[in-house]
Amino acid sequence: MARSVVFSGIQPTGAIHIGNYFGAIKQWVAGQDDAENIFCLVDMHALTVPQEPDVLRGQILETAMVLFAAGIDPAKSRLFVQSHVREHGELTWYLSCVASMGQLQRMTQFKEKSEAQRGEVRAGLFTYPVLMAADILLYRTTHVPVGEDQKQHVELTRDLAQRFNASFGDVFVIPEPAIPKAGARIMGLDDPTKKMSKSVPGSYHAIRVLDTPEQIKKTVMSAQTDSGRDVRADPARPGITNLLGIYAAATGASLEAAETHFADARGYGDVKKELVEILVETLRPLRERYAELSSDPTTVRELLQQGADAVRPIASETVDRAKHAMGVG
Ligand code: AMP
Ligand code: TRP
Repeated sequence: MARSVVFSGIQPTGAIHIGNYFGAIKQWVAGQDDAENIFCLVDMHALTVPQEPDVLRGQILETAMVLFAAGIDPAKSRLFVQSHVREHGELTWYLSCVASMGQLQRMTQFKEKSEAQRGEVRAGLFTYPVLMAADILLYRTTHVPVGEDQKQHVELTRDLAQRFNASFGDVFVIPEPAIPKAGARIMGLDDPTKKMSKSVPGSYHAIRVLDTPEQIKKTVMSAQTDSGRDVRADPARPGITNLLGIYAAATGASLEAAETHFADARGYGDVKKELVEILVETLRPLRERYAELSSDPTTVRELLQQGADAVRPIASETVDRAKHAMGVG
């Protein structure tokens, strides 16, 4: 049987939080021995909304350091920067000529993100899922580990690949989304009805993986909870449900096991205190490795170049086949 190819991407647009970590990065690290792994810092995706060039440049390197610190191992996986491999932009064009406007208009993330934009909405924000499809299809990806919020984009990728293959012959491998059960959707601690996101300002919204123990404590202890004291996951109680979900994601337990664990808790305070300890310990090794790596940015830049050099031939071959199938190139 052909070996699985895992591909995933992350935007270098702000401090990585526990939603990214439990929803995506932890899975990437855990699966490194089971497949061929390609991970991408999607800086071209970041340009779909306004960015400050120097800030963006810094964040690309910082995000790379966080990923290596989290356990992405350059001996097992490729980690590279999207804009270092020109084929991503190139395949996007060919796929845009397969995608329909109606399909892209149905993307819920576009609706949310475009409504959140003050001023004009960039065309790139609209075509963003086509770039994501190109990322995935370039490498004959079989599995795409992402959080729940990206599932619709992976479905679109499958659809574009199927349409392309039906019209032009068998060029693309049809990828499967791989969504973790625990950690698939971590909500904001200041408002448990909103997804934890890099772009929400304020210090009580997200727990960032590089937060100090004091910051983690402050954010968890101030988390919005619900009225009542029952420690039970329930859609009507998003606050405690989110805390239980984070506990489950951090310990590897199921949500039910998390409820059982806290059966004797005297209210939410007990849950929060234990959660602080678990998060501090879970994130400690990452923070320590990050401190080492950040003193050596040259090595990190070199690793990213090596990653790009390793994947470029695969991308280039796929683009050549796609162009040829469509009658150009
Ligand atoms: P982004 O922060 O949008 O670049 O997302 C990077 C990865 O983290 C993607 O796989 C997302 O699905 C995942 N992710 C982002 N936010 C969350 C969240 N709040 N809960 C779970 N996964 C998330
Ligand atoms: N769109 C994803 C996000 O915002 C990031 C991403 C870009 C990605 N290309 C990808 C994820 C390819 C998986 C596969 O989270």
